[in-house]
Amino acid sequence: MRVLVCHRLDERVMQAIEDFPGIEVTVWQQAGPMPRQAFLDQLASAEVALTMLTERVDEEALAQAPYLRLVANVAVGFDNFDLPALTRHGVMATNTPGVLTEATADIAFGLMLVAVRGMWTASLAMRRGEWRGWSPTAFLGRDLAALQLGIIGYGRIGEAVARRALAVGMRVAAVKPRHRTVEPLPGVEWWERERLVRESDVISLHVPATPETYHLCNDAFFAQMKPGAWLINTARGSVVDTAALMRALDSGRLAGAGLDVFEEEPLPADHPLFQYPQVVMTPHIGSATVETRRRMAARAWDNVVDFLSGRPPRDLLNPSVWQGQPDSL
Ligand code: GLV
Ligand code: GLV
Repeated sequence: MRVLVCHRLDERVMQAIEDFPGIEVTVWQQAGPMPRQAFLDQLASAEVALTMLTERVDEEALAQAPYLRLVANVAVGFDNFDLPALTRHGVMATNTPGVLTEATADIAFGLMLVAVRGMWTASLAMRRGEWRGWSPTAFLGRDLAALQLGIIGYGRIGEAVARRALAVGMRVAAVKPRHRTVEPLPGVEWWERERLVRESDVISLHVPATPETYHLCNDAFFAQMKPGAWLINTARGSVVDTAALMRALDSGRLAGAGLDVFEEEPLPADHPLFQYPQVVMTPHIGSATVETRRRMAARAWDNVVDFLSGRPPRDLLNPSVWQGQPDSL
């Protein structure tokens, strides 16, 4: 049984992987995402792969991976997987739900606080020597408690952001999920998407990247937003049309934004978004804490251990593949 690990993970988890009996482990040791060709070459002889969201597992990759049985993503998002293709090829896919909820909500809340209080622009001004002394009228942001937050994507992370916002006295509304039954936290109101877009001072995105959410925030969306509102995106870059976002900043419709994810990652150093000081940006660090990355690696590995032990992986995304397994597994 050959197991490919596409990036060196938390050392404790690596130890558990390397100590597991009866498997042959290949670990990509270089820093940064695996180059595509190296990934395809390694996948060709692997039965299990622990992938990062930088490894695309699509028809091209699957066509060259005849032994592959399981891909375990070290991420909750799995838009790097072509799930229908995986299912067609009889390859199981898993993610790491639940373990990065709080870390990601912290970054969403942090970006919102930094944007709304102008902490980033004030800090930049200070570095430029533009601090003229305490002033009753300089560097004014807004009270979080005076603002209406709208959450699009009320899953675990959306709810964790709502909890933080309620704690500081914000009013919070969310679009009711269509595909699941869920009760809102006490204090959170369900609003129709249109009302939420029109009446929120801050909109925070927590939907997965799907064809349905592609460019959800486009020119029409920004045109409906309350003038002077903020947009926070810690979900996936593809949810926001970056060009439309910049037009909304140019027109002043948007006061600013907090972005942790981008249509193009890494964002090129000469990208026009860098021209907007009112956009606070972080490099896709929603889940980037020591504790959370350890839990994500462990959870991905738990899924592999389930499979190696003949059990259905706990976070199986395409259960029909398991149901199609011969009993001999
Ligand atoms: C990170 O973006 C994840 O999906 O886990
Ligand atoms: C977070 O872990 C989520 O699945 O929403």
